Amino acid sequence: MRASILVLAGDGIGPEVTAEGTRVLRAVGMVFGHDFILRDALLGGCAIDQYGTALPPETLAAARGSDAILLGAVGGPKWDDPSAEVRPEQGLLGIRRELGLYANLRPVTIHPRLVGASPLRPEVLAGVDLLVVRELIGGIYFGEKKREPERASDLCVYTGDEIRRVVRRAAELARKRRKKLTSVDKANVLESSRLWRRITEHVVRQEYPDLQLEHVLVDACAMYLARRPSSFDVIVTENMFGDILTDEASVLAGSMGLLPSASLGDGPRGLYEPIHGSAPDIAGRGIANPYATILSVAMLLRHSLGLEKEALAVETAVATAIDRGVLTADVAAPGQGVSTAQAGQMVVDILKERGKA
Ligand code: IPM
Ligand code: MG
Repeated sequence: MRASILVLAGDGIGPEVTAEGTRVLRAVGMVFGHDFILRDALLGGCAIDQYGTALPPETLAAARGSDAILLGAVGGPKWDDPSAEVRPEQGLLGIRRELGLYANLRPVTIHPRLVGASPLRPEVLAGVDLLVVRELIGGIYFGEKKREPERASDLCVYTGDEIRRVVRRAAELARKRRKKLTSVDKANVLESSRLWRRITEHVVRQEYPDLQLEHVLVDACAMYLARRPSSFDVIVTENMFGDILTDEASVLAGSMGLLPSASLGDGPRGLYEPIHGSAPDIAGRGIANPYATILSVAMLLRHSLGLEKEALAVETAVATAIDRGVLTADVAAPGQGVSTAQAGQMVVDILKERGKA
């Protein structure tokens, strides 16, 4: 197949990890006979430097003209002035919103070799296989904001339609998995959560009676994720709760550098990015973990291009590289880490070995 993919490397370690992601895409194209046309554009801090805005119209137009978008990370100390009018994060939030990508899929699985990389006990980690579906373009991130010298506010608004579409997406995914759906809210305090719970209850009971549905308060959910993470299958939740819970969930896998994500709307076009940030502390040193980005490439192949076999090949190649002990510093034994490029090259080599077999 032919597909056009826009690469938004962004800031910090973004360019280092997306370089490995695109290498893997090219290898998949070669091994499986696809023609992937890769283009680059600026988003985040690098776009502010060049255009004075975090989401230049050129970038948005290029995104709309692509089948899928691979993103590294945005942000860094250079653009961190809290009083600044333009911030790198506006680029990320803007592109999610402009493209209508309301469902953010963040799967969490644990590679047996990396159980020791998590601070949690092995028996707590046994059997963990969960998927967080985070609502991505509503709630407190996008409500009206006000700033006065001694008073500030961020409004959290959800509409029934915004809740229904993301809950349906999560329910569809749960149906293909273990058929358990956990909806996370703060319905004991927030009106927006009471609406979330009422709508979720209605949608799932009416349209997905085959699913087991539970409602869990976000504070309790944070605790259960550490105490009994294997009890979760699909978790669906609003924007900010999903942001916080997925950073917590990354501890299960052993490193933020291992978790991919897919942001999807109603059509096939999606945005794929590791859940980690731009990590300015290690940027430019060639030691960042590229596996989260490479696993995001697998999600891109699956969800935007419909290439399930190729997606599985990439996921298997990453698992094999980890099996072979090809690990960057975040998960390797002290002093043993390989470089970002070595990890990426190993995945490419494994894909090519498979291609010859
Ligand atoms: C994420 C990040 C972003 C978010 C930031 C960088 C705006 O934390 O993708 O989880 O909060 O959505
Ligand atoms: Mg986050």
